[in-house]
Amino acid sequence: MRNFIRRALTKLDKLDQKQIRTIVYDLAQENDRFEAVIQAASDGIVLTDLEHRLVAYNAAAEKFLLASLFHGLYGRKIWTVIADRELAAFVRKTLEAEEIAASRDFALEVSGEKRMVSASLSPLAVKGKILGDVFCMTDVTAAKSQEARLRRAESLASFTTMTAGVAHEIKNPLGAIGIHIQLIKKAVQKKKPVDTKLILKHIGVVSEEVERLNKIVVDFLFAVRPMNIKPERRDLNSLMREILDFVQVELKEHGIALEEKLTRGLPKVFIDSKAMRQAVLNIIKNAISAMPGGGTLTVATGKKNDCVRLAVSDTGVGIPPENLDKIFEPYFTTNESGSGLGLTNVFKIIKEHRADIWVDSEPGKGAAFIISFPVPEDEQLLLEYSKSAEARQ
Ligand SMILES: Nc1ncnc2c1ncn2[C@@H]1O[C@H](COP(=O)(O)OP(=O)(O)O)[C@@H](O)[C@H]1O
Ligand SMILES: [Mg+2]
Repeated sequence: MRNFIRRALTKLDKLDQKQIRTIVYDLAQENDRFEAVIQAASDGIVLTDLEHRLVAYNAAAEKFLLASLFHGLYGRKIWTVIADRELAAFVRKTLEAEEIAASRDFALEVSGEKRMVSASLSPLAVKGKILGDVFCMTDVTAAKSQEARLRRAESLASFTTMTAGVAHEIKNPLGAIGIHIQLIKKAVQKKKPVDTKLILKHIGVVSEEVERLNKIVVDFLFAVRPMNIKPERRDLNSLMREILDFVQVELKEHGIALEEKLTRGLPKVFIDSKAMRQAVLNIIKNAISAMPGGGTLTVATGKKNDCVRLAVSDTGVGIPPENLDKIFEPYFTTNESGSGLGLTNVFKIIKEHRADIWVDSEPGKGAAFIISFPVPEDEQLLLEYSKSAEARQ
């Protein structure tokens, strides 16, 4: 509301008819303007009062929620006017549980077509006072299919490098097996009596190489198989504490000091605890092998822009600049007994979380692996809301 109208309203009894008429006219015009903007929005918008009863909605909302049901239903609880049962249950559950904000994607039938719709609920707050709820629906079908296409292209590219890697890895053991089988053949043909000891030695090598082949295939399958991750909202710090508890003894055994710099009050992010634990453990294992003479492992969490960040840094040998963009590639390793698949799997897990990972290193000084998780929009709102509440106190 404009300030002059607000001021005028405080001394309404002192105004004459004409002045009051002007104010009412202005208010009506302003209302029409807002109404026009809301009606023109392509997102569905529904407003409710404090009892979650319908007070306003726009044309797009009718489309998402099924128009015929909507007719003349002002004053009804919002979930009773939603045709889709799943969406209605989500709205009811969120509002009855008095959760501050929530959002989720739904497959809805909109004008006879299946669409992906992102639905979000948040409080309708005006000047710090909550007046009801805002329920928004956005059609995300196009964005989602674009995302799926990109992800497919990305996984196809990594599949190609992966397969080339496997072919390369398989060559050596196959070559060795071939040679030893020829040697066995020779031994059987030439000497009489047959030198059993020699033959057994060759067979030993062959079976070792077969085992190596098997491991290559098993690792490969693990790396290419789609990961069935189920991310849930979680406090990153609590997961990190669990992981650090688990590795503490091993760090001590290697003469590595642990420094924890976990920032409190971070918004929750979507994490599949099991998969993320594996990713972080892989990074920590690499850090341990990079510090053969001991050192310090620093684990820090924090917030930067709209992301929650995790940094795992060591004071080890570091990574030469020419290797920086190779370390996530399958089969790249500088360790004699390494598989070169550790960071490939880390990368895969991070991407499945729609998070980002990058590395920062100064050779001789150490390396830092940084993971950046997107903060769900409603967690962001929640954080801002509690911050402004703090500021008001
Ligand atoms: N913290 C680190 N410090 C230095 N080098 C690292 C670090 N982490 C990874 N690397 C480099 O990246 C390579 C690939 O790592 P990874 O995929 O886990 O395979 P692996 O551990 O089997 O070698 C390592 O061989 C090493 O050269
Ligand atoms: Mg590794």
